Amino acid sequence: MQQRMSRFLFNLLNFYEFCKNHVIKLVKALIFKYNIQCIFVYFYFGRQASSLATDFGIDLGSRRTVICSGKSIVLDEYSAISYETYTGDLIAAGNDAYQMIGRTPESITAVCPIVNGVIAQYDLAESMIAAFLHAVADNKLFKARLMAAVPSAITEMQKRALYNAFSASGARDVCLIEAPAAAALGIGLDFTTPKGSIVVDIGAGTTDIATLSMGRVVKFESSPVSGSSFNEAISRYIKQEQNVMIGHHTAEKIKRQIGCVLPRPLELTMFAKGRHQFTGLPKTFEINTSEMITALYDTALSICRSIQAVIEKTPPEITADIDRDGITLIGGGSLLFGLDRFIADYTGVKVNTVREPKTCVARGTIVAMQNFKALQSADFRFKSLEELTMA
Ligand SMILES: Nc1ncnc2c1ncn2[C@@H]1O[C@H](COP(=O)(O)OP(=O)(O)OP(=O)(O)O)[C@@H](O)[C@H]1O
Ligand SMILES: [Mg+2]
Repeated sequence: MQQRMSRFLFNLLNFYEFCKNHVIKLVKALIFKYNIQCIFVYFYFGRQASSLATDFGIDLGSRRTVICSGKSIVLDEYSAISYETYTGDLIAAGNDAYQMIGRTPESITAVCPIVNGVIAQYDLAESMIAAFLHAVADNKLFKARLMAAVPSAITEMQKRALYNAFSASGARDVCLIEAPAAAALGIGLDFTTPKGSIVVDIGAGTTDIATLSMGRVVKFESSPVSGSSFNEAISRYIKQEQNVMIGHHTAEKIKRQIGCVLPRPLELTMFAKGRHQFTGLPKTFEINTSEMITALYDTALSICRSIQAVIEKTPPEITADIDRDGITLIGGGSLLFGLDRFIADYTGVKVNTVREPKTCVARGTIVAMQNFKALQSADFRFKSLEELTMA
């Protein structure tokens, strides 16, 4: 009797295991093949739908696209795409495409479709965004919620184009947030209270300067003098002083290795290669940090003047808060050696740098998404499609 009982239990367990494995496999197959998950979730597990949703925060930069999910960065790639020139077939998106820029034969085109924070080539931007989102969300994209950071200084038409490009990827919900507000959330600034702050984002295509208070952008200005301007200044200087033409990648390498706007503790020198202006032949040249200061001075000064212009336009109470708490510097361009002290010397206001200046906007989009209701009740404004349409 005992033996029969234990055999019965053993068979029952086997049957349970068999059912469990096959039912899970069957459900998974249906989910992947027929996308029935929406129906399944909405009709039977409506309340759990939000917990199953996947949230992505995106900072679509002129140089880099950063996608954040939860607490981690799931994608950080160059905003570049390459395709067959004659057929339009996609070859690569992201870092691989970026390496091709300036090195492609006629039959292949490699470009950055985002210029100065806005879409310059719509179809290419849409394909690039779709490629990035498919890489991180894969088959979960149809239930994904996206919070995308957009520059404050762009037109409603440009915002709409960005919105459409994100929606075309197949995401369930898309919401836009102004990039300075996202940055403030990403670095933990409490700007929902009546206290002023200023965020300066030195990106690749633009320097966005915004004063914030009570969850809103009070004054902003976008200047085209930014990270790329430092590269151009280096190229100009080398052409003038050494008669050598250098490419974008070489200028970037020089800037990162020895670039500075104030003296470094140690004078550094590096060798680089370019094409001689007159002979047309390859030429190796030497450049040092003192020359960098000369080359980059005007560009750094121009950024300071833009910051001053925004502070001048800001109400005095907020200016007093800024004077007390300082200017917060973010964006990859803020990593240039000495730029924080240069700005502090010019404005007379202390400058705060952050630990992860290139990813704080993307991190902030996720913070915004996770605190959507709380921020809205604090009168924080998110831009929905309806708002854009009404504009
Ligand atoms: N270590 C460094 N030193 C100097 N500049 C740097 C350094 N690292 C990155 N940069 C510069 O930062 C810029 C890219 O910054 P970021 O990723 O914030 O730009 P983006 O968000 O793509 O552009 P944008 O905000 O203008 O659309 C580039 O110009 C790059 O050369
Ligand atoms: Mg940026």
